[in-house]
Amino acid sequence: MPSTVDPSAPVLLFDSGVGGLSVLAALREVLPQAPVIYAADEAGLPYGTKSEAQVTARVAGLLGRMSERYRPRLACIACNTASTIALGMVREVLEIPVVGTVPAIKPAAALTRTGVIGLLGTEATVRQSYVDDLERAHAAGKTLLRHAAPELVTLAEARLRGEAVPLDAVRRAVSGLLDHPRAAEIDTVVLACTHFPLLRDELGAVFGPGVTLVDGALGIARRIAALTEGQAFERREPDLAVTTGPLDEFRALAPRLCELGLTRIEKF
Ligand code: DGL
Repeated sequence: MPSTVDPSAPVLLFDSGVGGLSVLAALREVLPQAPVIYAADEAGLPYGTKSEAQVTARVAGLLGRMSERYRPRLACIACNTASTIALGMVREVLEIPVVGTVPAIKPAAALTRTGVIGLLGTEATVRQSYVDDLERAHAAGKTLLRHAAPELVTLAEARLRGEAVPLDAVRRAVSGLLDHPRAAEIDTVVLACTHFPLLRDELGAVFGPGVTLVDGALGIARRIAALTEGQAFERREPDLAVTTGPLDEFRALAPRLCELGLTRIEKF
């Protein structure tokens, strides 16, 4: 049966800030022909320090309004914090497929040799029962050491604005894992916040070559490709990035947004 989806309908990627760009980079590799709208809720950043009720209300409300305005074929919550808290609610509100971002505990558990896995996320993500469930399902018998590293969100935002990110600041942000009594056994670290792969080089330098950093970006991109398989894609205008925050601040990201094909910038 031919697809009834408008070929110009975009894939909507949503995050509190620039974190979802790590997912967009993977999506560009897997599905370069897909028109994309990237939405950053910079006015709501950070989500990691908010309550579950605040995140749910904000994300469900914004995605509802964005879906009405942009008519996407699919929405991706490219944010672990929002997904682990609000995915169920968003799926109830939207009438299109919604792809979430799940901390990559399953692939990390398959990779670890020592059985000791670190997990870096926001304060909100590391306390979610969603993460407890993933740990029970995929990492039983392993040790998962969770550490909230909210400073990495700020550092990733700064890096994408072209600012220098001192390694010492990255080291301090992850000291809960580096100084843990079992630190020497950690051979795999889950980057359970989409901002963190944007600091992969710095995190790699801080943890050293013996530690594998795992994130879910490629898996999410492949899921989007699978859910849109058989659909036609036609980019009728350049891809768009929108922000809920001040437009002039968002424009500082223009070089990186352009590299990812987001050549139009607007306020939502
Ligand atoms: N990018 C978001 C995530 O994946 C977190 C950033 C924030 O605290 O808003 O969890």
